[in-house]
Amino acid sequence: MAENTHFSEPPREVTSRAAGLRRDIDRANYEYYVLDQPTLSDAEYDKLMRELGEIEARYPPLATPDSPTQRVGAVPQTAFGTHTHRQPMLSLANAFSEDELRAFDQRVKKNLAIDPESDVEYVAELKIDGLAVSLTYQNGVFVTGATRGDGTTGENITENLRTIYSIPLKIEPDPQGEFPVPSLIEVRGEVFLLHDEFRRINEERTERGEPTFANPRNAAAGGLRQLDSRITAARRLDIFTYGVGLIEDGGFSTHFQLLQALRAWRFRVNPNIRACHGIDEVWAYTAEWKSLRETLPYDIDGLVVKVNSFESQERLGYVARAPRWAIAYKYAPRQATTVIREIIVQVGRTGALTPVAIMDPVEVGGVTVSRATLHNEDEIRRKGIKIGDTVVIQRAGEVIPEVVEVAVDKRDGDEVDFVMPEHCPVCGGKVERPENEAVTRCIDTACPAQLEENISHFASREAMNIDGLGPSLIARLMEADLICDQADLYYLKQEQIEGLERMAEKSTGNIIAAIERSKNTTLGRLIYALGIRHVGERTAQTLAMKFRSVEAIESASVDDISNTPDVGPVVAQSIADFFGEERNRRVVEKLRGAGIVAEPPEAPKDTGLIAGKTFVFTGALVTMTRDEAEEMTIKLGGKASGSVSKKTDYVVAGEKAGSKLEKAQKLGVAVMTEEEFRKMADSE
Ligand code: IVH
Repeated sequence: MAENTHFSEPPREVTSRAAGLRRDIDRANYEYYVLDQPTLSDAEYDKLMRELGEIEARYPPLATPDSPTQRVGAVPQTAFGTHTHRQPMLSLANAFSEDELRAFDQRVKKNLAIDPESDVEYVAELKIDGLAVSLTYQNGVFVTGATRGDGTTGENITENLRTIYSIPLKIEPDPQGEFPVPSLIEVRGEVFLLHDEFRRINEERTERGEPTFANPRNAAAGGLRQLDSRITAARRLDIFTYGVGLIEDGGFSTHFQLLQALRAWRFRVNPNIRACHGIDEVWAYTAEWKSLRETLPYDIDGLVVKVNSFESQERLGYVARAPRWAIAYKYAPRQATTVIREIIVQVGRTGALTPVAIMDPVEVGGVTVSRATLHNEDEIRRKGIKIGDTVVIQRAGEVIPEVVEVAVDKRDGDEVDFVMPEHCPVCGGKVERPENEAVTRCIDTACPAQLEENISHFASREAMNIDGLGPSLIARLMEADLICDQADLYYLKQEQIEGLERMAEKSTGNIIAAIERSKNTTLGRLIYALGIRHVGERTAQTLAMKFRSVEAIESASVDDISNTPDVGPVVAQSIADFFGEERNRRVVEKLRGAGIVAEPPEAPKDTGLIAGKTFVFTGALVTMTRDEAEEMTIKLGGKASGSVSKKTDYVVAGEKAGSKLEKAQKLGVAVMTEEEFRKMADSE
């Protein structure tokens, strides 16, 4: 990259501005993703990212791999390479009972030749249920990320790990100067998925008729295995780091100290770590977490107990690829057996009918459950579930557990097959199951079940962010006939809400204020809040950037809409269908009447060479992805289209451009190289 002679050298002040922006963005990411204490607003963050993106677009050599703009990769890879760990990644021996844990402690003392009555210093940590990865940093820069593989050699998944915002792309020296940055370090950690993200991913997959993941671990594993890092990014994976492999100039004497160094270097380290004086304290800690683990927003499958002193660790050494200085204390799996008495059908926001098993209450991992989601008809067939069956259920990150398998040998012949109803169980309207889809839907958009879910989505944090307006209050407002769509929220009066059960004057006041506050929002949020099928946060943002108002989308043609980066024909059709419905247009009209101010993102330019022109990007681009090129075009007031026609002004042809380039030549459309496009954009 450094030798790219096509581009002008950046002036010194630009280089230092870029470095400053990078530092501020890295810090903001750290505060948001690691500390969970954001200090910048979304708008401030976007502004910094945009400025850095613009500088790097102008001076591509500044877009170094450790720049925060480089988290989500360009073109998909064709295969993963391999990576040999400098220090092998070992596994752990397990203990399943107090006796086994105490036996470990005795072995440690015996091998260290110390008094069996004395206390060893241990560190007890949560055992995160995810995938082990190794992150290599050379001179503080993240260079390679790999899976465990066979312990010696793993897969190189650097591009995918870059998308995890809690992984620093660069290790900064800590402010106290206590922990100098090592010249080479392999940081070890566990990639995992938060329960909320797991639920979101499964909901989205159900929506698209794709099979759901059985647990967060599988969803995380699938995410790490993607050749297209944009898919990995969409999973929103996370990591906890818990140790190191090779480390040059480390100089730590205890594991506890090492964890502190990792924290100081801005790695995410789990806060629930306890230095224990002797095995009794370790045992007490395992007991504490047995029930506490139900409150965690991610899965753990036990605790890891490590001898704190590195000197002792060294003396203890290894046996059969597992260290003698550590052990995994495993909790009993959260499975139980019960009987399915009934299968009911729930209706979601998009009208999706979800079968849910109603079971004899049973305790699973400290929580009594009586419902399990069965996802859809195909899933029920696949698992061979019948009403009356005895089933094994498990809690896998979901509040609502899942059926693992049917105990077929417990059948007595009275079991009954489940049949999907032909009418919506809530509104009695018609249901449909399109061919090639797993999901059956209620097609009546006025169905109260859909309305309720729609309003919840509208009020949610990522959408209009109406604090305090949860599903239960929405249900009560609907029941009292105070609202029948999203827009009605803005016409609610204090005295109407106060009349409801459990709504005092103060809480009502808070809700009214929160509704009022939500009127000032961004266009991206408002579009997302409408709950158009297939329109997630990112698509909503791109639509906001291009169309600048809800009205403009409303009156756009399907073709117009599909000429938006990231928006394919299915999504475009879904948007057009949404606005084609009288009911939805009425809601939008009412929202407008309520005085909602939805700020569009910073306006694209309307002067310059790109403004008003239509571009088609084809072939492999080198300095940017096609999406980035399209975004840049739109920002500069141009249009990006997916297909070449007489209306196309320019075709930008990268390497291996094929039929689109041919078509451009046939139609006499101007063709330019990526570099020429860059120059055109830079001259703005
Ligand atoms: S230490 C040589 N600490 O559990 C010891 N492992 O069953 C290296 N794991 O492969 C592991 N949380 O993937 C350690 N706090 C933690 C952990 C942890 C999860 C995973 C890791 C390891 C597996 C062993």
